[in-house]
Amino acid sequence: MAELNKVSVDDLKVTGKRVLVRVDFNVPMKDGVITNDNRIQAALPTINKLTSEGAKVILCSHLGKPKNGPEEKFSLKAAAARLGELVSAKVTFVPSDVVVDDTVKAAVDKMQNGEIIVLENTRFRKEETKNIESFSKDLASIADAFVMDAFGSAHRAHCSTVGVTEFVKETAVGYLMQKEIKFLGNAVENPVRPFVAILGGAKVADKLNVISNLLEKCDTLIIGGGMAYTFLKAQGYEVGTSLVDDTKIDYCKEMLEKAKANGKTLLLPVDTVTAAEFPNPIDAEIEVVTYDSNKIPADRMGLDIGEKTQALFADAVKTAKTVVWNGPMGVFENPVL
Ligand code: 3PG
Repeated sequence: MAELNKVSVDDLKVTGKRVLVRVDFNVPMKDGVITNDNRIQAALPTINKLTSEGAKVILCSHLGKPKNGPEEKFSLKAAAARLGELVSAKVTFVPSDVVVDDTVKAAVDKMQNGEIIVLENTRFRKEETKNIESFSKDLASIADAFVMDAFGSAHRAHCSTVGVTEFVKETAVGYLMQKEIKFLGNAVENPVRPFVAILGGAKVADKLNVISNLLEKCDTLIIGGGMAYTFLKAQGYEVGTSLVDDTKIDYCKEMLEKAKANGKTLLLPVDTVTAAEFPNPIDAEIEVVTYDSNKIPADRMGLDIGEKTQALFADAVKTAKTVVWNGPMGVFENPVL
């Protein structure tokens, strides 16, 4: 197992200290209700460890992608309420449109050891995603120590993930980060072969960049989800109105070449479930038609892999000894897909 070369939450002395924890409470919501609380559950080991040792725990997270400051639908209120049901410690949501203001500071000053405060969505501050010092300093002003436990956001250089660490004396990683670094690091660096990596999801640009690296480590790379259409287009196929990152076409061509040159198998969808448009709302009933992936009509949008592809991908996974999987193969939120 790969060793962790980072300061862990276990290395901190936290009793009586204000510990700011960056969690990933970016949970799926529908009409203000959390539809899956896995990410809150995943943060509990770190939170419980800190409260049981008498830390004053201040949680911060983003939720969704608010672009223009505060918006009710992106509030962390529901996540804070759910956390309150899952822990025995007292949880108080202290909302502020600027995340940290005098009200928040006063609430932190009044905290008892072992209590929890949840701050409002860090992306309500425009500085957050640009990693601008002013917000990092505001966050640091209410913390004696900082714990990073937002594995899902660890690839983002934002104020609440990276910037704040410049201004807090003690920093550490939490248990979720620790677990993911150990397992993922080990799987990728020392895989039992055959090693199959599966990439999916809708966040195309972010993940396309890891393909080159993965192709050096895995034996088979399976690409589905939103990323697949850029690859299909790079092969000269019509992809209709499917999600495509046109700036990455040449990169995808290079990756297809790289896979060939390195003797790696790169599997792409051979058939695609399509609809006239993206479902709105996402779980709306839609008419779907499956086409071979090189025959997607110009007015159709690819939304999932077809049955032939499912069988192809499943076969590759069956023979694997290590599988690393990131992201769904289609719009799983829709019951038709
Ligand atoms: C995620 O859901 O992938 C993480 O919470 C990161 O979200 P982001 O892509 O909006 O930064």
